[in-house]
Amino acid sequence: ENHSIAIIVGSLRDGSINRKVARSMCALHDRLDCTIVEIGDLPLYNPDIDGDSPPEAYTRFRDAIRSAEGVLFVTPEYNRSVPGALKNAIDVGSRPYGKSVFAKKPAAIVTVSPGALGGFGANHHLRQSAVFLDMPVMQQPEAYLGHVSDDAFGKDGLLKDGDLKNLVEKLSAAFADWIDLIKAGREKLLG
Ligand code: FNR
Repeated sequence: ENHSIAIIVGSLRDGSINRKVARSMCALHDRLDCTIVEIGDLPLYNPDIDGDSPPEAYTRFRDAIRSAEGVLFVTPEYNRSVPGALKNAIDVGSRPYGKSVFAKKPAAIVTVSPGALGGFGANHHLRQSAVFLDMPVMQQPEAYLGHVSDDAFGKDGLLKDGDLKNLVEKLSAAFADWIDLIKAGREKLLG
């Protein structure tokens, strides 16, 4: 069974290595039907503008996450945490209170960096938010992808053959299995 996946990429940069890894994850697995949900146009979250007629960008973002079966976060680390744009998107999707579009959505968190630590700090800061958002986040395999440069990708922007591609392929398969597991558990509990 195929799964619709909303991908949130934490980088707004055109040539983002995170965006390329996200596209590769989807290309490497035929059961993940992915859509990258853009976050660059979301006004900074302000409850004052989020009343009866929220900004169109808020509504577009919320609808896109709501309609997906799973959420895949692929993000760089900024100053050992998540980029502000990504945190803002999380804040937008989490409101109005009680109507979070993230609640109970199976998720996976992948961090990609040219640095040695593979965005570990961002990965775990994001996990802290995911606990409060009540998202069942895949725990293994962990995905701190370090030492990633433009050299890892071919002309098509997708990962070239090699260890990183093999790891990303495993991540995709594990995420599809994770969504199966969460869905089956939910059906058993809720009928
Ligand atoms: C970075 N970068 C970075 N890298 C890292 O491993 N840990 C960090 O804490 C930071 N901090 C940081 C802050 C800011 C403001 C920027 C712009 C960058 C470097 C970052 O990993 C690198 O630019 C990546 O290429 C960003 O990912 P994208 O845009 O290529 O997907």
